[in-house]
Amino acid sequence: MIETTAIVGAGYMGGGIAQVLALAGRRVVLADANAELAAAGRDRIVREAEGHARRRIVPADAPGVIAERVTAAPSIEEAVADVDFIEEAVPEVPEIKRETLARIGASARADALIGTNTSTISIGSLAGAVDRPERFLGVHFSNPAPFVPGVEVIPHQRTDASAVDRVVEMLAECGKVGVPIADVTGFVLNRLQYALFGEAARLVEEGVASPEAIDLIARTTFGFRLPFFGPFAIADIAGLDVYDFCYRSLGAAYPDRFSAPDVLREKVESGELGMKSGRGFLATAPESAPELAAYRDQAYAALSALLHRLGDPPVTY
Ligand SMILES: NC(=O)c1ccc[n+]([C@@H]2O[C@H](COP(=O)([O-])OP(=O)(O)OC[C@H]3O[C@@H](n4cnc5c(N)ncnc54)[C@H](O)[C@@H]3O)[C@@H](O)[C@H]2O)c1
Repeated sequence: MIETTAIVGAGYMGGGIAQVLALAGRRVVLADANAELAAAGRDRIVREAEGHARRRIVPADAPGVIAERVTAAPSIEEAVADVDFIEEAVPEVPEIKRETLARIGASARADALIGTNTSTISIGSLAGAVDRPERFLGVHFSNPAPFVPGVEVIPHQRTDASAVDRVVEMLAECGKVGVPIADVTGFVLNRLQYALFGEAARLVEEGVASPEAIDLIARTTFGFRLPFFGPFAIADIAGLDVYDFCYRSLGAAYPDRFSAPDVLREKVESGELGMKSGRGFLATAPESAPELAAYRDQAYAALSALLHRLGDPPVTY
């Protein structure tokens, strides 16, 4: 079991990850470019937790727990020397990452696991910097780490399978959902997020809608479903033949940007049309339709009530 941890890079993400680990009972040693920055990072996250506790979004004892379990180390070497798991969260600059990972790898115990919080850099391209790279993998928390549940877990070609299992288990114990995926630039989250942003920006450039209108549509229509159903569940429920048809009209209008993906066409050609045929990307049986509809309606009603209670986000266009 992973009990002792170190975070290298006590900035925004490193501080958030430290809070997650500490509140899940781990000891956390923070390191930064120097001892003063590490100590300042530690004090900042205790203050942040006090703010969260005042707003009652973490338990009242969270600041005390974090203050007790998180310490600042004078150097990277001292922080990582005797812990089970190390997370690197230094700036997204390949040279800084490689240099830091080399220092971590040289000082960590041979059996320690080493994660990187990189958002987009392929893990394989960083692995060469780490001594014993079979213990190295991507562990990509989302912002804000204390509150966003999902974490991409990204082994490179030589990562031990047991390292993935141990990290996913640790994340589950921290209340997070670790999702193993393959190692490509941008991983899954950022490829999806940037694809959506790219189309949104084109709609603005073409004068179709303002940023405000697009955000409103995204939040109140398809985005409203996303906390409950991902793109494949949504497609299966809608019907893959319907998706194929929609791709034809989109492809006719925007041939450089839209065409039905091969995997969708193949499913439609083989009669796998989604939930109505009992098989699509998922295997939800048609008989589950009433149960699914009941869940969906309850989920959407609860989300509507939550959004009503919270009010609109304080953003200005
Ligand atoms: N901010 C986000 O929304 C977000 C989300 C997901 C992933 N990430 C990733 O997390 C990582 C950290 O991002 P951040 O937003 O926390 O950055 P940040 O600038 O807030 O923190 C980086 C920290 O690293 C320290 N640092 C710089 N050079 C160092 C060195 N040589 N040795 C030790 N520490 C050093 C800095 O002093 C700083 O405290 C990046 O890889 C980023 O892509 C960021």
